[in-house]
Amino acid sequence: MTRVGIIGATGYTGMELVRILQNHPKAELAYATSRRWSGQAICDVMPHLYNAQELVLSEFDMKEAVSAAELLFVCLPHGESMNISADLYKKGKRVIDLSADFRLRDPEVFSKWYGEHTQPELLSEAVYGLPELYREEIADATLVANPGCYPVSVILALIPLLEEGLVGLDSIVADSKSGVSGAGREPKPNLHFPEVYSNFSAYSIAGTHRHICEMEQELGGICQIDVKLTFTPHLLPVSRGILTSIYASSLDDMDEGSLVELYRKRYLAEPFVTVRDLSAPLPCLKDVCGTNQCILAPRYDKRTGKVVVISVLDNLVKGAAGLAVQNMNLMFGFGEDVGLADFPLYP
Ligand SMILES: NC(=O)c1ccc[n+]([C@@H]2O[C@H](COP(=O)([O-])OP(=O)(O)OC[C@H]3O[C@@H](n4cnc5c(N)ncnc54)[C@H](OP(=O)(O)O)[C@@H]3O)[C@@H](O)[C@H]2O)c1
Repeated sequence: MTRVGIIGATGYTGMELVRILQNHPKAELAYATSRRWSGQAICDVMPHLYNAQELVLSEFDMKEAVSAAELLFVCLPHGESMNISADLYKKGKRVIDLSADFRLRDPEVFSKWYGEHTQPELLSEAVYGLPELYREEIADATLVANPGCYPVSVILALIPLLEEGLVGLDSIVADSKSGVSGAGREPKPNLHFPEVYSNFSAYSIAGTHRHICEMEQELGGICQIDVKLTFTPHLLPVSRGILTSIYASSLDDMDEGSLVELYRKRYLAEPFVTVRDLSAPLPCLKDVCGTNQCILAPRYDKRTGKVVVISVLDNLVKGAAGLAVQNMNLMFGFGEDVGLADFPLYP
């Protein structure tokens, strides 16, 4: 068994990692931290995991972390993560950082969107943890920057179009709707039940959401030209899941069947990306919640010349903890889907 640790185990992504790791046959959770619940057993702090292991949560301690685990998942807010992840990395530990702290390669871009980086030299060492683009690099990586949840849903929806140069690069629109757990467990007034329930709102529109720089970095890397994305996130009154609608202008007239076939071929060997046929229902959140799947439905609007792609995933699984376990599986040579073969609850 490979011993792993979770720094920030009591947040939404940390708890989801605990849940997934309970059934992982090759990884053992040997260390887990929390400031608020240190000294208490995981099974007491997370009652939904009533028969989970009795590992006791502790305050983060570098020496303990280094001796307890071979791999550390760091699930802290951005900015809090960079020094801890860097120190673990420098002590020879393998690290999967779920925050935004190592996702951007250019320190100037990082400081523009997030403020000063204390470990800028590590930005070029980190591998962006999206197996559908960087599988081999992840397998050899010591520091993996796990992608943001919106970026996973948007990038996976656009890869086939950009690799084949089929759409204009200055007018792509990504319109995303996310469940509230995407904002983390820390209470905030706009996330309270009366504000969110039976309501629906946009936020951080018109080029102001921090995930834009991450998406543009990766999309530009695919086609080797700058891509400018219009991204509009929304808050859905559900606890988890992201549904993104992509709109892109086709450069030529398209056959819709060939478009779906292109997506099917690109993702045929991918264990966690599924492409819906023209005859299948459009994907919805209940098709993916609790699973590591991203489901895509590419369609072509002949009338307007626009490609429309629907992309759904669970922000806490394929958008965070499940993807992190997929990355761990690659790093340690386990089967890529080990511990991740769940079906969703339906309805
Ligand atoms: N939520 C998502 O859907 C999602 C998806 C992809 C990526 N992410 C990223 O993953 C990271 C974790 O997200 P989350 O949603 O799990 O956040 P969260 O629910 O707010 O949890 C944060 C965790 O970090 C600990 N923590 C908070 N501030 C800390 C500090 N200053 N020093 C040390 N520990 C601290 C908290 O526990 P204690 O207070 O008990 O220590 C908690 O365990 C974030 O960077 C987020 O952007 C989140």
